[in-house]
Amino acid sequence: MKQDTKNVVKKIIITEAVRDSVIMPSGINVEVAYCENPVDMIDSFMLESEDLILFTVLVIPMTLYKDVYKHLNLVDYSRIFYQMLLIGNDRELIDQNLDRLYHICDFLPSKVSDAKMRFIIDKSFSILEKYFQNEQKKIWYYNRLVDAQRDQEDLINIGKSLSGEKDMEKLLRLILYLSKKITGADAGSIYLVEEDDSGTKRLRFKYSHTFSRVIPLEEFVMDMNTKSISGYVAVTGEVLNIPDAYKLSELAPYKFNPYFDRQHNYISRSQLVVPMKNHLNEIIGVIQLLNSKESHNPAKKFENEAFEIQLDTLKDFDEYVVTFDERYNSLMEAIAGQAAVAIENNRLINQIQMQFEEFVKASVTAIESRDPATSGHSFRVAAICKELALAVNEVTTGYLGTFHFSENDIRELEFASLLHDFGKVYIDLNIFQKAKKLYPKDLENLKLRIDYLYRFMELGYDTREIEMLDSLTRLNGTYSTDDIKILRKEKIMRLDRIREIKDILVQLNEPTITDRDPEAILKEILAEIEGLECIDPSGGKIDILTLSDRTNLMIKRGSLNNEERSEIESHVIETYKFVSKIPWPPEYRRIPEIALRHHEKLDGTGYPDKLKGRDATSLQSRMMSIADIFDALVAQDRPYKKSVPIDRVISILQEEAGANKLDPDLVNLFIYKKIYIKFISPEQREQILN
Ligand SMILES: [Fe+2]
Ligand SMILES: [Fe+2]
Repeated sequence: MKQDTKNVVKKIIITEAVRDSVIMPSGINVEVAYCENPVDMIDSFMLESEDLILFTVLVIPMTLYKDVYKHLNLVDYSRIFYQMLLIGNDRELIDQNLDRLYHICDFLPSKVSDAKMRFIIDKSFSILEKYFQNEQKKIWYYNRLVDAQRDQEDLINIGKSLSGEKDMEKLLRLILYLSKKITGADAGSIYLVEEDDSGTKRLRFKYSHTFSRVIPLEEFVMDMNTKSISGYVAVTGEVLNIPDAYKLSELAPYKFNPYFDRQHNYISRSQLVVPMKNHLNEIIGVIQLLNSKESHNPAKKFENEAFEIQLDTLKDFDEYVVTFDERYNSLMEAIAGQAAVAIENNRLINQIQMQFEEFVKASVTAIESRDPATSGHSFRVAAICKELALAVNEVTTGYLGTFHFSENDIRELEFASLLHDFGKVYIDLNIFQKAKKLYPKDLENLKLRIDYLYRFMELGYDTREIEMLDSLTRLNGTYSTDDIKILRKEKIMRLDRIREIKDILVQLNEPTITDRDPEAILKEILAEIEGLECIDPSGGKIDILTLSDRTNLMIKRGSLNNEERSEIESHVIETYKFVSKIPWPPEYRRIPEIALRHHEKLDGTGYPDKLKGRDATSLQSRMMSIADIFDALVAQDRPYKKSVPIDRVISILQEEAGANKLDPDLVNLFIYKKIYIKFISPEQREQILN
């Protein structure tokens, strides 16, 4: 620790009242000043010489002691170091009744010899010097303590900041920003260790910032060996604190490459280069700090040198750049350790997230592959929802203007969209693919039974006709030729009707809405068929229309019966149950709820809970409803469904919004922003252009 005494002024201040009592010894190398009141002289010194320190011996009457001490004790005397020589007699001493004797070097009752005076003066200044040194030491220790405390706080804060940052680019920027702020560095770079395809380690120059220059950032890769400064630290794990990179020892294994300096008219003088070691003590990168800055002018105080002192000229570099303080070695090592852990955590989180995302996508792909006609639906719904969310973010007015989707919110919505129909895995695929009221095989069976009935009746008529013909050949036969004619006529009529019934049933199988209630039609047919005897070869009665046929053919709208409809609708509950089991991080906690509500309608006609109104569901669910319906409508032709022309799709969405089923603001935004364009086929795009 160096004692700085270059600003010290030494003075003996003698009060006029005791001027005659002291004889200044000759040859004293200290300024002697006379005054009426020493307090005034000290005050004016304080005012006039801001940067100076005063060592003074005050020669005052005993009677002034209390006043002077009181005053000097009150003012900021961190720059005044003083001793008092009190002049007076014993009577005065007794009268003063001094109980505290601070800053008193002696009490002299009368004139003293030269030698005694010289002794007192020398003793006083010696005391002051010692006192000053102690004060300096105290300040030095105090500053170290404050620095250590600040370093500790910085470390804690850095730990908190770094662990909270999930974006890798932002994290690197933050690491460098904090490192520079703490060390007062003008510039810094971060290198990360990576492996090439052959497993050879190399250093990637990943991020850099220079306060005093605007330098475009370009990543590059360099060999990881001890020839460069950063390479040396990356290989050995040693901390390098280099006072001047241009004056490296010949023996140093590494060399300084001045290329960057020449390119940018910069001087990378002092450097602090630290390894970033992870929890396994592996080096994952290097932080290189350049040019620790410090102002030597006490009049120029900076809040933070790193971001205030500009290094433009050579003079600036000479004036402000200092060697990095030794204490930064261990501090930066600790920071680099925290940075390494944060970077590794970040990598790990990203990796886990990526793996999870891939897993979700693979699962969704697997489920969707059950029905090739709808494959890609969930991915398209996710993409549409993302576009819609970005469009919502651009809205600044009205109800949608109050919403903003963060990056996390959008990812949450994407996951919810990818998984929104996951519950379909639990549902019989045939139901989804049911295009008509009866499954094809059931219709075929029904047709076969009707054909059987046809043939059965035909056989019945023919048998009777043979019987009649038989009776004609016999005497006294029961039947006449007229009877045969009547029978034939009836046969044609009944068989025609069977054919007709077959056509009606085939017609009834279509999911289109008919003029007449299908139930009434079916009841008529049933009444007719019921009266017909139809038995199989073993004598069992054949039910032409099974219970299942009847239930299905009575469907008034669409192709699904109530049971099938509620099974399909249960997919949202199954999705919810499944998705809820996934331990989502807090930022994705709404995924199950968003997915659960994608079939709710604003007017309360949706499912599963018939929720009514905007407040009952999230904006995300309402966005998903639009994306879901849109994709189902524009999807390419399916075996059971035709693709709807795009202008019709838009009208349907508008009608649904008008009927208070879909959120009208979202539908308008979807149409106004032409979000749909990206999600239709080239042919459909053609339709819009024409
Ligand atoms: Fe759905
Ligand atoms: Fe869907």
